[in-house]
Amino acid sequence: MAPVINGKVIFNEVPTGYPEPGKTLIYQEETIDPNTITLAPGEWLVKVLVLSVDPYLRERMAAPSETYFDAFPLGAPIENFGVGLVLRSENPAFKPGDHVYGIMDFAHYAVCRDSVLAKGHVIDNTHKLSWSTYVGAAGMPGETAYYGWKEYARSKEGEIAFVSTGAGAVGSLVVQLAKRDGMKVIASAGSDDKVKYLREIGVDVAFNYKTTNTLEVLKKEGPVDVYWDNVGGPTLEAALETAANRGRIIVCGMISSYNGETPHVFKDLTVIMSKTLSINGFLVTDLEAKYMDEFRATMPKLLASDEISFREDLTRGLENSAEAILSVQKGTNTGKKVIIVADA
Ligand SMILES: NC(=O)c1ccc[n+]([C@@H]2O[C@H](COP(=O)([O-])OP(=O)(O)OC[C@H]3O[C@@H](n4cnc5c(N)ncnc54)[C@H](OP(=O)(O)O)[C@@H]3O)[C@@H](O)[C@H]2O)c1
Repeated sequence: MAPVINGKVIFNEVPTGYPEPGKTLIYQEETIDPNTITLAPGEWLVKVLVLSVDPYLRERMAAPSETYFDAFPLGAPIENFGVGLVLRSENPAFKPGDHVYGIMDFAHYAVCRDSVLAKGHVIDNTHKLSWSTYVGAAGMPGETAYYGWKEYARSKEGEIAFVSTGAGAVGSLVVQLAKRDGMKVIASAGSDDKVKYLREIGVDVAFNYKTTNTLEVLKKEGPVDVYWDNVGGPTLEAALETAANRGRIIVCGMISSYNGETPHVFKDLTVIMSKTLSINGFLVTDLEAKYMDEFRATMPKLLASDEISFREDLTRGLENSAEAILSVQKGTNTGKKVIIVADA
């Protein structure tokens, strides 16, 4: 292979609020020769095809002492879940031509290795899903919804679930898992278009939290047996206030506080005791060993057969990554945000 241009998205500056394209993240190009890049034992070189854009990337754009994740090093490319075509390999599990899921740099060509976030694995694409699906509904966000729901919901037919950010990558799958368990589902989202999508995927009570008061909806439609929290803040407070006795609160994310906002102060947490609520925070990686095989055996089939639907919001071109990352933080994405870096 002849020398090629390799673009990279570099972490340039720790942001104080939203990440700013051209300031927090900058796009740079260099010429590389894929044939001469050194690979250590266990590493493999890929042509990057798709990259996932996830809310937690903002948590990694922090000073090392301020984040629970590994902070991105300044001056180096950011990384995330992706699918790449293997060009060369020093890992016996992969050979040139394989499509491998794993953690990779935001770059056109990336040297990969197993990471605490994901061990690389060859995608067995029996169901002919697009590569973007493997970083969305069939990838980490899908795993998050599936593992967290299975582990903590203890759902019963006829019970009531509330899902915030219900139209997003994780939320839209949680909504459908709750419906499959026979629950009445309430879900919120930040635009009328997203509310329309919620109705299409079977949500019983869908509302725009920017124009409709969440607490009032929950008082009318609750009490809430299971609350799947993607946002934290006043939405979590409303869910606590309207929780059913023995309610389950699953804290998946708190995106309302990722961009430097003042933390929400909760007025009254005594309901946790008086209603004997269970509150579980979790990280998807914690539950991998228990559910990953089951997920990989079931979810791609459900997605291919449209038994579970998903919505994607694709951004073409690595150079547009910073804008795509910002859109997920601001909520202007209209489904699972994925960057299409190359077609094959
Ligand atoms: N625990 C884990 O291991 C794990 C793994 C993956 C994801 N997560 C968490 O799950 C949540 C959803 O992630 P996702 O990948 O599915 O993202 P997503 O829903 O596809 O995109 C993020 C969405 O968050 C909403 N949002 C942004 N700012 C908000 C704010 N200030 N208040 C309320 N909502 C806001 C927006 O939707 P609206 O337009 O509806 O506001 C935006 O579209 C995030 O909190 C993420 O951190 C956790």
